[in-house]
Amino acid sequence: MKFFVDTADTAEIKALAASGLLDGVTTNPSLIAKSGRKILDVIAEICEIVDGPVSAEVAATDYDGMMREAAVLRAIAHNVTVKLPLTPDGLRACRMLSGEGVMTNVTLCFSAAQAILAAKAGATFVSPFVGRLDDIGQDGMELIDEIVTIYDNYEDFDTQVLVASVRNPIHVTAAAKIGAHVVTLPPNVLRMLYAHPLTDKGLAAFMADWAATGQTIA
Ligand code: E4P
Repeated sequence: MKFFVDTADTAEIKALAASGLLDGVTTNPSLIAKSGRKILDVIAEICEIVDGPVSAEVAATDYDGMMREAAVLRAIAHNVTVKLPLTPDGLRACRMLSGEGVMTNVTLCFSAAQAILAAKAGATFVSPFVGRLDDIGQDGMELIDEIVTIYDNYEDFDTQVLVASVRNPIHVTAAAKIGAHVVTLPPNVLRMLYAHPLTDKGLAAFMADWAATGQTIA
């Protein structure tokens, strides 16, 4: 399972990349707005920190505009993944870009039918938003299960399921049980994965016992 981080905060990305556990980054227009920086500068800096796929989302909503913006974004670095909305124009742009060998991430996926379209459009990744479905009383993880099952039925569907809008560690373990390829995590959720009170308690006890021996290792 690959771990992407869902942020445009380059200081956070640098810190998390040092763990060696980071496989990529996702951003969206809201995260870029939150950073207060220019999208081209932020994406270029992220691509220097992380060698894996870095999703940069188009802001245009029409096919020609998306293709123009995609040309600018993909020129930033080899690992830019052009993120496109799940709309007729977005999928048309996805088909074209995928044919040109550009990595693509089809975002704002909320149904299995939409995910089938993304796979047929040759998307590298499809991003179903589990948290936002949970927010409206639907089961986001059920959608992940459905999409993974459907994709497994077809050898020619190469699209990776990128679980997005993740809110807690349970989303991560549930996605892993289903066999989703990627999860994109807000930094705070990524940090939560490390935490267990028995780990802290056990370490404190080991350290106290060790100190009593008066020994050093190095
Ligand atoms: C995915 O690519 C999106 O950037 C993100 O996961 C959306 O998460 P949110 O629903 O917490 O905004």
